[in-house]
Amino acid sequence: MSNKISVDVIILGAGPGGYSAAIRCAYFNLKTLLVDKYNTIGGTCLHFGCIPSKTLLNIIKSIKEFDTFNKYGIFSGSLKVNIKQLLFWKHNLINKLSSNLLNIMKINNIDIIYGVGKFIDSNNIIIEDKQHNEILVNFKYAIIATGSIPNNLLNIEFDGKYIWDSTTALNIPCIPEKLLIIGGGVIGLELANIYNILGSTVDIIEVSDQIILNLDKDMVDKLMHQMESNTLFFKLNTKISNIEIKNSKVMVQIDDNKKLNNTNYYDNVIIAVGRKPNINHLQLEKIGIETNNGYIKVNDQMKTNINHIYAIGDVIGTPMLAHKSMHNGYIAAEVIAGKKHFFDQKVIPLVIYTNPELCWVGCTIKQAKHLNLNFKVVDFNWANLGKAVVTNNHTGFTRLIFNKDNNCLIGGGVFGVNSSEILGEISLAIEMSCEAEDITLTSHAHPTLYESIQLAAEIYTTKFL
Ligand code: FAD
Ligand code: NAI
Repeated sequence: MSNKISVDVIILGAGPGGYSAAIRCAYFNLKTLLVDKYNTIGGTCLHFGCIPSKTLLNIIKSIKEFDTFNKYGIFSGSLKVNIKQLLFWKHNLINKLSSNLLNIMKINNIDIIYGVGKFIDSNNIIIEDKQHNEILVNFKYAIIATGSIPNNLLNIEFDGKYIWDSTTALNIPCIPEKLLIIGGGVIGLELANIYNILGSTVDIIEVSDQIILNLDKDMVDKLMHQMESNTLFFKLNTKISNIEIKNSKVMVQIDDNKKLNNTNYYDNVIIAVGRKPNINHLQLEKIGIETNNGYIKVNDQMKTNINHIYAIGDVIGTPMLAHKSMHNGYIAAEVIAGKKHFFDQKVIPLVIYTNPELCWVGCTIKQAKHLNLNFKVVDFNWANLGKAVVTNNHTGFTRLIFNKDNNCLIGGGVFGVNSSEILGEISLAIEMSCEAEDITLTSHAHPTLYESIQLAAEIYTTKFL
């Protein structure tokens, strides 16, 4: 490739947002260039996020299942996890998905350059590639999809040895005997589940009075109680005031509002206290792109304040989820191609892939109260659900929230092993403004977990129609 090129669309960042936008741009025959600072495409999601974490959590699920059937004497013997093979398995799955993605880019004639991009003016970007060559790219449109990076805490350095971020943790450098996780958010819970089942004693410190703040407390309390054991402890309303490495241990001063300067020692600490937009190196100030707390400001067509420059995904704010980034990318490409489309999804699902999983979509009880809606909540307990019982999954439940004024579904959540696989019906029903009877009159296969959605809707029609 020459040192000066011209394209219709340049996309900075090849995560789920960037690559989805690229595929859609190519569909509209736009000459598209995808740029990423790593030597591969797929972004945080494929290499350091969704895929590695879910690969490990899937193995954790098998270990838990083995333990249960072992207790009943159906299986016998002990199970030993080979961490080296586990990491090899994870590495291979990621490679498989990344080479599939590269193929898709090739088929769609999407050019890729590996390097760091920065704006020099509002129609030109310079990419510094791995060999420190500079490539000047003149563009008609640009899409910024540079994702997010972990927040740090008290300026503590992620040293990769004692203090880990999620990327280090997903590479399982060791199984610490005593592990502290700071942050009871999605990353904290998923990593706690992985390390606890692999053998660590885990403390999770959360500064607020509940984990997963945006969900209803009774829902997350169920998950918390199921995860708690004599080797996994939650400490709510707690924060740390100091961390130091002393005699090959991490000395942590914990402030729980009662015992000031309570000192504990851990082998390792994972900091998972949220993520921030990655706008490093972009030189946004040079072209006057507006930001808010570092997040790039966009309208509902993903346009920044500069009409031909778009931003998508984590870099524009929460929720920081791969499926949101992908849909943002799709919309940006459609708008560039001249379509009058908008990012107007009613709801974006959230799944916590612990064992068991907890997931939610749409309005929560606290939001419904806050909005002063006339609403009713129905819960269907999985102890009465054939498929849940035969899969030893009877502690789960399905919750639906209906708007009492029109009987439309406005929110719903599911708790239980594999519950994420049935959340889609609730999302679709909300997007389609389904009424309770639309759900009850739809045939649901038996025995399945998704029957619970029909059965919950039946409770609503029986009690409230
Ligand atoms: P990213 O995937 O972060 O991609 C941005 C890309 O931009 C990166 O590849 C980066 O190298 C590149 N880049 C940055 N700056 C430049 C530059 N100047 N020039 C060129 N390239 C640049 N979400 C879910 O929906 N489900 C999950 O199960 C889930 N699990 C997660 C687990 C973990 C541990 C983490 C950390 C995140 C998880 N997420 C999950 C969140 C998800 O990974 C992100 O929301 C998603 O990756 C965001 O996509 P993106 O395209 O906006 O950015
Ligand atoms: P988060 O925002 O989900 O949770 C961070 C937690 O840390 C919050 O509960 C917060 O109250 C707590 N906290 C903040 N400061 C603290 C302190 N000083 N001491 C103790 N606790 C403190 O962020 P997290 O877990 O880092 O994940 C980042 C994002 O990545 C998520 O919001 C999500 O969008 C995405 N993600 C999604 C996953 C999924 O969809 N399954 C999995 C993992 C990550």
